[in-house]
Amino acid sequence: MKVAILGYGTVGVGVYEMLEKCAGLEPGPVLVRAGKEDKPFKVSSMEAIAADPSVGAVAEVMGGIEPANSYVTMALKAGKHVVTSNKALVAAHGIELAELARENGVSFLFSAACGGGVPFLHNLAIAAQSDNILSLGGILNGTTNFMLDAMQSDAKDYGDVLREAQALGYAEADPTADVSGLDALRKIMLACAVAYDKLPVDGFSREGIESITAADVADFQLKGLTCRLITSGGPAGETVYAYVEPVLFPANAPECSVVKNFNMAKYNGENAGAIVLMGQGAGRYPTASAVVRDLCGLGSLEMFRPDCVKVSADNSACVHPYYVRVDVDKAPRFSFKECRGDEECVRGIIEPIAVPAMHALADSVRKEGGSIFFAAMEA
Ligand SMILES: NC(=O)c1ccc[n+]([C@@H]2O[C@H](COP(=O)([O-])OP(=O)(O)OC[C@H]3O[C@@H](n4cnc5c(N)ncnc54)[C@H](OP(=O)(O)O)[C@@H]3O)[C@@H](O)[C@H]2O)c1
Repeated sequence: MKVAILGYGTVGVGVYEMLEKCAGLEPGPVLVRAGKEDKPFKVSSMEAIAADPSVGAVAEVMGGIEPANSYVTMALKAGKHVVTSNKALVAAHGIELAELARENGVSFLFSAACGGGVPFLHNLAIAAQSDNILSLGGILNGTTNFMLDAMQSDAKDYGDVLREAQALGYAEADPTADVSGLDALRKIMLACAVAYDKLPVDGFSREGIESITAADVADFQLKGLTCRLITSGGPAGETVYAYVEPVLFPANAPECSVVKNFNMAKYNGENAGAIVLMGQGAGRYPTASAVVRDLCGLGSLEMFRPDCVKVSADNSACVHPYYVRVDVDKAPRFSFKECRGDEECVRGIIEPIAVPAMHALADSVRKEGGSIFFAAMEA
């Protein structure tokens, strides 16, 4: 089958090269911007790709919501299968695009949008048909994992590790989506939709790693703890819980062995038990491999099933003790079990509190211009 590729950047080049060597699949036309058609296989008309009867599938690897949404819509209406690595597109329009795919008798798959090369959604989609998924999530953002690992291993400051991540191509020039937890949140949205037929679109709690300092990391290390940015999802009555926040793990936890820019995706099946998948969550070839894996599975897998609906997440039953570092004058609003301080800040562990309440307390501190870092304590 000939596969058209929309976008010839980091992932697009990898998909093209892999398709050249893949039995049963071959690269077709590649969509680039007008004026950039410097090779015979590069075209700038999506209409021409949609009308090309030799193209059986389209790989959307250009990113962004528009024109990606219009182009994917055009391809599905023309009866082409679509595979995408674009988590922003799937989080915003995935349910509608999956419905359009069904109407046209083709597939709409997006493994590469969550976990890069790690076959998380692919396995989750299959497991969800036969098992009851009790929880899911893990380390789903390689950029922040690289930064947290470097802060701990090399005792470096946040600004230094961010610059290092940018120099290595792990973080974009504008790193906000990664460091704020938005990228990880989009991934847990997709995972919940695949596992529970419920796409959470609001009601989230999201805390990234922007507030962590070298002094915080030094303090965890004294206690033998390691910080990771963790996404968590699972069933919550008629809806799902879905949140992202830093978590502190004891030295024997598997999360501590996830170093550099690696990902560790987990789900817990009622029958399968805990399943852990580790690998490279980003990069040209790992991400392209997930796109091509989906292309090899066309017709045999559905990720957004027909009864998938949009819901509001409910994190109110998720309760943890938290490590908190906060300005001295804001400390009285937290129920510290144990703490220590100096004239600037207080650090310690607070009594268990629901996730939305903890995030709301942090918001209240920041709204008043205060400084706070918090991380859930893994039991
Ligand atoms: N890179 C990763 O490791 C990774 C991992 C997982 C998922 N993803 C996802 O994969 C997608 C692509 O990421 P990437 O890293 O490959 O991005 P990238 O390197 O910026 O490549 C995107 C390519 O698409 C082209 N493009 C954008 N809009 C276009 C348009 N309207 N018409 C034609 N071409 C257009 C860009 O061309 P110009 O250069 O001319 O703008 C660029 O060549 C994103 O959704 C990203 O979130 C990436």
